[in-house]
Amino acid sequence: MDVHSVSSVSAKSLPALPLAKPPQIIPEGSLAELGRAAADCRACPLWRTATQVVFGEGPASAELMLIGEQPGSVEDLKGRPFVGPAGRLLEQALAAAGLDRGALYLTNAVKHFKYEPRGKVRLHKRASAAEQAACRRWLAAELLRVRPRLVVGLGAMAALALFGSAFRLTRERGEWRALAGGARGLATWHPSALLRMPDQARRHAAYGELVADLRRVAAALAGDGGK
Ligand code: URA
Repeated sequence: MDVHSVSSVSAKSLPALPLAKPPQIIPEGSLAELGRAAADCRACPLWRTATQVVFGEGPASAELMLIGEQPGSVEDLKGRPFVGPAGRLLEQALAAAGLDRGALYLTNAVKHFKYEPRGKVRLHKRASAAEQAACRRWLAAELLRVRPRLVVGLGAMAALALFGSAFRLTRERGEWRALAGGARGLATWHPSALLRMPDQARRHAAYGELVADLRRVAAALAGDGGK
């Protein structure tokens, strides 16, 4: 087997990262090297059933990082984040807010698809707390390499990674927070949560909130503080 390794550094020797609980050891390398090394990660069991790792994508110079939860079935097959139905909705919201997907770094808190087989269908399953914690090293590595000025968590799993377990998306959605290391961040709706809302009026309202939050991010990116 072709194993790609990267060196790791102790988080203690690094400038602070915008994570509630940074891992103790963080892999170091270019984004391409990190992506190849993550493909060989065995830190949790999800690699066994997933087709492939779904690493983040975007320029290392991106000022904005968007963090989703975990890849879905389409992402698992294509090996890229947000290329299924949630990705289409996200792209629509980004465009409405004047943000260019290609200019930002887009990734997930967990890099492998987790599912339960039901006949021919693979039903999405939420990664456990232990799986999320095991994968934190790769998110930390991406944050270390990209060093974004602004970080957006899409959904509760990403918000937990950024702001910790006391954070409540329903109460604190769209509020800027200072993060360790000088970045600031906010959390907003995950597009998949919108797709799951059975009530059309509620879904429509939540989409409006997602776009409004992303507009504030676009304004902050352009330098007016995003208030
Ligand atoms: N949902 C996510 O959180 N990430 C993806 O890449 C796709 C769906």
